[in-house]
Amino acid sequence: MSERKKLKLAANIDGTGWNFVGWQHPDMPSDASENIDFYIQQAQLAEAAKFDTLFLVDVSHVGAGNIPHYLSMFEGMTIMSAISMKTKKIGLSATIATSYTDPYNVARQVLSLDKISKGRASVNAVTSNPGGMVNFSRGHLTRADQYPMNKEFMEILIGLWDTYEDDAFIRNKERGVYLNPNKMHTLNYRGKYFSVAGPLNLSRSVQGRPVLYTAGSSATFIDHASSYTDGAFIHGETMEDTMQVANGIRARLAEKGRRPEDFVVITSQNPIVGNTDEEAVAKYKQLLEFKPTNSIPVPLFFGSAERVAAQVALWYESGAMDMLMVRQDHPHGLRDFIDLVVPILQERGVFKTEYGGDTLRGHLEIPKPAFRKVG
Ligand SMILES: Cc1cc2nc3c(=O)[nH]c(=O)nc-3n(C[C@H](O)[C@H](O)[C@H](O)COP(=O)(O)O)c2cc1C
Repeated sequence: MSERKKLKLAANIDGTGWNFVGWQHPDMPSDASENIDFYIQQAQLAEAAKFDTLFLVDVSHVGAGNIPHYLSMFEGMTIMSAISMKTKKIGLSATIATSYTDPYNVARQVLSLDKISKGRASVNAVTSNPGGMVNFSRGHLTRADQYPMNKEFMEILIGLWDTYEDDAFIRNKERGVYLNPNKMHTLNYRGKYFSVAGPLNLSRSVQGRPVLYTAGSSATFIDHASSYTDGAFIHGETMEDTMQVANGIRARLAEKGRRPEDFVVITSQNPIVGNTDEEAVAKYKQLLEFKPTNSIPVPLFFGSAERVAAQVALWYESGAMDMLMVRQDHPHGLRDFIDLVVPILQERGVFKTEYGGDTLRGHLEIPKPAFRKVG
């Protein structure tokens, strides 16, 4: 493990929290899910702690029995654009559903965010819940359509991001030459669900392409992740489960001739941390008191800072994750993790103490992809 890259850390901003009760805590703004000041505060907290990236999980429609956060929340690319102007180094990511929107829109939005943030953009392109398709004139489609759509979407996204070669724009005022037209490529993609001619109207990213992630659990998800993306969100009930999924993805990458070291396996946890185990238990119990009928599961990463740091290090060293996404159930969840756990991880050499570069690919230590002509 000596040449293993350091652990990567992501902070997910969940507004009032991914639960029914967090909004009632006296320290949580009850409108946090659509409160710009709250989002900026969390983003700056994570950046000061040298987190590699911010993240937003997303559900873009209201359904029965939704948690409060789902009922009034920001659209991801919009809030990430605002955050980009108040941060300098940290990566920016939102989740989009390939079942709901159009790949040309997403390619343009994410590459715009990448330019605005000078190379810090990424997107998590998931299939999502078929229940939302009725809001996108796609009520006639079903779950069976979602992964075939996802495949076409990914191919178009990557293709549009390679519209221009890196040196396509000359912009020479004396000679009056703006573009080398030979370095602009039209996509001409014809699929069952999406047909996109291109070209896209944005120059290539300083990262080559914005970082692309996906999330899921099925064999098809693993197939898409290993073909198209730079990283994937996985879920496991235990470290062993998670390790198995992670190793499954790494094996598929190797089969396809890709280096597993250049791919980021991500798991999310909602740590509740205290100076002592007792303090962590007290924080958890305080949340339960708000509405015991909608109780919050006991977090997997739970207890004193030393205990949680040891758990994080073990999951990382076992290969269950390359990046940990920290979510918060408790209103101080992110701050507690940063104040109490991060210094221990830094002291042990598991997590970095400074940013090494300026782009998200630089933070993740994944190479800039070479231009690929697809059209
Ligand atoms: C770790 C993980 C994270 C996910 N995050 C999201 C999300 O933020 N938004 C969303 O709409 N769906 C999310 N999903 C659901 C997936 O988009 C997908 O619809 C679901 O996992 C079904 O695909 P599968 O059969 O490959 O698991 C997530 C799934 C997993 C496993």
